[in-house]
Amino acid sequence: MAEANNIKEVARRAGVSLGTVSNVLNRPETVTPAIRQRVLDVIKEVGYVRNDSARHLRAGRSRTVAIVVLDVANPFFTDIVRGAEQVVERAGGMLVVCNSGEDLAREQRHLDALEEQRVRGLLITPVGRSSKRVERLVKRGIPVVLVDRGSGEANRCSVAVDDVMGGRLAADHLAKAGHRRIAFVGGPFTITQVTDRHAGATQALADRDGDIDLQVIETRSLSANAGRGAAESICALPTAKRPTAVFCANDLLALGVLQGLTTGGLRVPQDVALIGYDDIDYAASAAVPLTSVRQPREQLGRTAAQLLLEEADDADRHGHRHVVFEPQLIVRQSTSTVRRKGR
Ligand code: RIB
Repeated sequence: MAEANNIKEVARRAGVSLGTVSNVLNRPETVTPAIRQRVLDVIKEVGYVRNDSARHLRAGRSRTVAIVVLDVANPFFTDIVRGAEQVVERAGGMLVVCNSGEDLAREQRHLDALEEQRVRGLLITPVGRSSKRVERLVKRGIPVVLVDRGSGEANRCSVAVDDVMGGRLAADHLAKAGHRRIAFVGGPFTITQVTDRHAGATQALADRDGDIDLQVIETRSLSANAGRGAAESICALPTAKRPTAVFCANDLLALGVLQGLTTGGLRVPQDVALIGYDDIDYAASAAVPLTSVRQPREQLGRTAAQLLLEEADDADRHGHRHVVFEPQLIVRQSTSTVRRKGR
């Protein structure tokens, strides 16, 4: 006997709307006896079990929505917060921001505190691939939406950008400009966004004729400081081994690489072309305007908050969704070089 995992299946089988099933469950007096019985028969037939513990828990829930970001110093997350805030405040709620600092233990501490606070819901860009702690919140009936992270989980929503496509866009752009030695700067590789962007770049270069070398310079964080460190290692390489182009996993890294290369006497883009990821406002206003893979940051935040409030307001009618936006390559001066002859 198939078991319905949400109210949509019950409505489909009973041939009624989601609202009618919700009324049968919550306001039976508003439904005719015949329809009420038909829906109850389907509920019994498919074994649909309403998440009453979640509803009761939500009953006393505050109007506060929490967002846990990876790095509060990264303008990428500032823009996401701005988008989410617009939606939450318009719904009469309040958004509180927590910073995990890309540290799992710190993320866990925030989640413990937020569970005690009985927040209305949680938006999170998790540090690890899948956090058992997040799973526990979901089981406690706290709506969770993953932000900037795709997810296959059936019990929560996610909003992300296709980072594999983003990696492809960046690598294809550099390959078309004639680069044959390219460096990928990013890390840690426990962050899915980093691994997906690297995977996309690897796929794009493998699809092209001719051997293009993609060397990885793994960083301990996605910060400008880590970018400066990566640039030092690039400057230390002999010209014949030095990459002629660098693809960074985000714009903060790229701005750090730009600063480090310049300090090391290398010119961007003449000696080393440079691409970032996010297209934060500072990318366009950098000393050398930065080519970047744009993410629709505020839209990511708005969409995540909308999904969260939809679930928080009526879990029975909500159907979990995984929204994926497409990235866009924004070309600027940091990659505008004449076609190279396979240096
Ligand atoms: O969320 C991980 C990274 O992806 C962040 O650093 C942000 O810049 C985004 O690009």
